[in-house]
Amino acid sequence: MPNYSLQAVEEFQTRFHTIPHIYRSPGRINLIGEHIDYNNGWVMPAGIDKETTFCFLENGTETFHIYSINQQEEISFTLENYNSITTTWAKFIIGVIDEFLKKGKTIPAFDAVLEGNVPFGSGLSSSASLECAVAFGLNDRFQLDFSRVELAQLAQAAENNYVGVNCGIMDQFASVFSKENHVFKLDCDSLTFEYFPCDLGQYTLILANSLVHHSLADSEYNTRRMECESALLKLGNGKKINFRDLQKNELEQYRKLLSPIEFNRIQFVLEEIERVDEAAKALQKQDFEKLGKLLYGSHEGLQHLYEVSCKELDFMVDFAREFDGILGSRMMGGGFGGCTINLIEETKAEKFMDQLSQAYQARFGIKPEFYPVKIGEGSSKVQLELKE
Ligand code: GLA
Repeated sequence: MPNYSLQAVEEFQTRFHTIPHIYRSPGRINLIGEHIDYNNGWVMPAGIDKETTFCFLENGTETFHIYSINQQEEISFTLENYNSITTTWAKFIIGVIDEFLKKGKTIPAFDAVLEGNVPFGSGLSSSASLECAVAFGLNDRFQLDFSRVELAQLAQAAENNYVGVNCGIMDQFASVFSKENHVFKLDCDSLTFEYFPCDLGQYTLILANSLVHHSLADSEYNTRRMECESALLKLGNGKKINFRDLQKNELEQYRKLLSPIEFNRIQFVLEEIERVDEAAKALQKQDFEKLGKLLYGSHEGLQHLYEVSCKELDFMVDFAREFDGILGSRMMGGGFGGCTINLIEETKAEKFMDQLSQAYQARFGIKPEFYPVKIGEGSSKVQLELKE
């Protein structure tokens, strides 16, 4: 059975004196293909063993009651006044309800408790895990008939429209579709995908959490999207084209048409799209040295061309480069903080975590956190035999 929060179930029973339905959905890693989902390329994510649990039951009234264990806060609203709720964590849930309503579905009022153990602001998509747990749960319980692809899209729309972050589809897709011990290569244009066994031989993946989250993350994210869009518009002579209309070997011809910044962004995207392809092949051939080089290449591009890294993440990747037993390392997720992902020989992992922890503390005065990656199941219902 996948992990879930027993505490959330118990809290629900204590608060509402009934038996809830329990759903959960994971946070995610991304092996490679960063800032590529909204650029119509390919990405290689997977869900992890950290997730949000969402327990709920319809209550026969007009008022929704939702309690967050993480925030220790309860909010209540009706379908008449939910627009006035400004509590940040609640917006992820209300955003999902709002999207279902916009599609003409009926959502009866319910009581709910949620708890998540995906670290917040760490680039591991705690928000997508919450949105997907809610979307999957409501869809299943109220028989709303959405497919998994549609649920990922609906959860993304909730974040775009209600929370206001113009994110791509990767996080929600990973949360909904993850399969134990696999990564998948997702075509962000057609939303078709292929699972790859994540068998890393003597190597393993370790996340190092910088525990910083610079406040420009969201605004710079939206700026990167606009920079890419304006570059594509120029390259298409006023008509918006797709990255798939461009060729990496024609990159130099694009230079004169673009500003230096736009050129760098386009160069990064074309190179990263190619790296995803190569990474999938390297994984299949178990060529981990190659995979590691691609991870370092991705970081370099994110640092210098796409400019979404920060000094804390660069420090961690530089440390990894010097550490014997690491094949590759890069920042992961939107950037400006959060985690690096490190491909490392399993027997060296303890030493790495220990030494990086000391070096990082000495430099930044922050004790980083480490998470060995375990790839978990996508959104699901938890079947428990509960007694009143
Ligand atoms: C955030 C967004 C994703 C994706 C990544 C960068 O996690 O939510 O859609 O763009 O950044 O790869």
